[in-house]
Amino acid sequence: MAMVRLLDARETEARVGELCTVLADCVAGGASVGFMAPYGPTEALPFWQGVAQAVAQEAVLLFVAEEEGRIVGTVQLGIALPPNQPHRADLKKLLVLEAARGRGHARALMAAAETEAARRGRFVLVLDTATGSPAEAIYERLGWQRVGIIPDYALYPDGRYCATTLFYKNLGTVATAAA
Ligand SMILES: CC(C)(COP(=O)(O)OP(=O)(O)OC[C@H]1O[C@@H](n2cnc3c(N)ncnc32)[C@H](O)[C@@H]1OP(=O)(O)O)[C@@H](O)C(=O)NCCC(=O)NCCS
Repeated sequence: MAMVRLLDARETEARVGELCTVLADCVAGGASVGFMAPYGPTEALPFWQGVAQAVAQEAVLLFVAEEEGRIVGTVQLGIALPPNQPHRADLKKLLVLEAARGRGHARALMAAAETEAARRGRFVLVLDTATGSPAEAIYERLGWQRVGIIPDYALYPDGRYCATTLFYKNLGTVATAAA
């Protein structure tokens, strides 16, 4: 059973080591999530320290999935947006340890992020993901709308060019459609 919760800034700092392990594991597996190989847990430290600061500033909401008390997955909602986008959030860094995949953690993380976004009135969500990645298939399964593909947008950890697919989800439309 996937367990997901929000971390506050203090807990984020306390658990930065586990978060580094998850991110380094995903990069080692070839995921295009912002970093180049080689990228170990130590290299991931500045990134997560920055996230802890962003959590403290209420710019980011950080969700984690746990198994037996250890973090095995995470996702973020970026909510520090311009004054004309108070109803929007950016979904970022959906990451699950390779050893914990296929057990519903990503689905549970996405559900928690969407529920919290809706609770805060952030009903337009946007993300981008590597075209052809397992994540791309998951977002479609979870009802996100594909906007389009930007070729050669980023690099894979090994240096090859990687296209990105943009997605959005309008939670208001979903709620209206479900009503
Ligand atoms: C993408 C990722 C987060 C999925 O995590 P996960 O915990 O294995 O996913 P889940 O078990 O929750 O699966 C969610 C759904 O996607 C489906 N799915 C899982 N892996 C899949 C794959 N490789 N291809 C197609 N569908 C897949 C599942 O069947 C499930 O659908 P269902 O609930 O309707 O059966 C994980 O593979 C990962 O961390 N990848 C590397 C990092 C990355 O690329 N992140 C995306 C950044 S935008």
